[in-house]
Amino acid sequence: MEIKEIKTEDLNPDEFIKQKVEEISSAVGSELAINALSGGVDSSTVTMLGHRALGDKLKTYFIENGLMREGEPQSVVSLFEKLGVHVEIFDAKEQFFNGLKNLKDPEEKREAITRVFYKEVFGRLVEESGAKYLMQGTNYTDVEETVAGIKRQHNILEQLGINTEKRYGYKVIEPLIQLRKSGIRKVAKALTLQEEIYNRPPFPGPALATRVIGEVTPERVETVRKATRIVEDELCNTGAFQYLAILHEDKVTGVREGKRDYGMQIEVRCWESIDATIGSPTQLPYETLDKLAERITTEVPGVVSVTYNITKKPPSTIEVV
Ligand code: XMP
Repeated sequence: MEIKEIKTEDLNPDEFIKQKVEEISSAVGSELAINALSGGVDSSTVTMLGHRALGDKLKTYFIENGLMREGEPQSVVSLFEKLGVHVEIFDAKEQFFNGLKNLKDPEEKREAITRVFYKEVFGRLVEESGAKYLMQGTNYTDVEETVAGIKRQHNILEQLGINTEKRYGYKVIEPLIQLRKSGIRKVAKALTLQEEIYNRPPFPGPALATRVIGEVTPERVETVRKATRIVEDELCNTGAFQYLAILHEDKVTGVREGKRDYGMQIEVRCWESIDATIGSPTQLPYETLDKLAERITTEVPGVVSVTYNITKKPPSTIEVV
């Protein structure tokens, strides 16, 4: 890999910001750029860097792909309004669910998401806005895992030999590509982003689609969305790196009020990690696990079984897809 990593301990965030602002501004010149903000630390950092460098020449969108968590579009928009950044919500639910129809294989699902993001959604936004550049928060771990063939991260293009200008009609700018998550958090803090952003657990670009085994339908996403809210509610004070709910494909026999209830299974994962390259499960107290099982089986319709993943990464990965 030709990209040179900047290790978090060697990073001077203020110098990094100054250098990237200059680079972005000279790359874009008098043209326009767009970026997609999901509210995660990477895309939030790119949004702030981009606005410092380009001001009104950067247009920021929240892509409503139907795969986000409860209330996420509105809360991200209002958080950034407070920082003086206007974010437009772009509704692409239909495109994403159409693209994911009948797909079960994890890499095929990832490829479909990449295609819808870059070709259908950004292709159209670029055309409508006249922008020549797309800014995004690809980080060093994303590139490393994709190039190693572990997982195709949704935002990796050039490193897979994709010429975005030829294929999609715009150039991609990736100011964070030399940093790991811990370095990006330092830059986010130096950019005066709120703590709830710079300390936010990571959330993947393909969103809840990475947490649905088998076909990703609106109904199945809704199940995992409800379970996610409970998991985040119960585990947000653990200090863990990341915690998530996964919907399994197989149904299992359960029993409710003396009657057979053939239902769904949710797997909970909670990770200790620094930068997502390796990880181990948090040793959660049994009472916490018990509460998770109780809440998920009563509050999420159709779920009869809850399990906790006890595997390290490797050989597991953090997300299931
Ligand atoms: P895995 O599942 O590969 O995840 O162990 C490592 C870290 O990356 C996040 N992740 C992604 N982030 N696009 C992203 O922006 C993706 O396609 C993607 N897949 C995984 C994951 O949440 C974890 O923090």
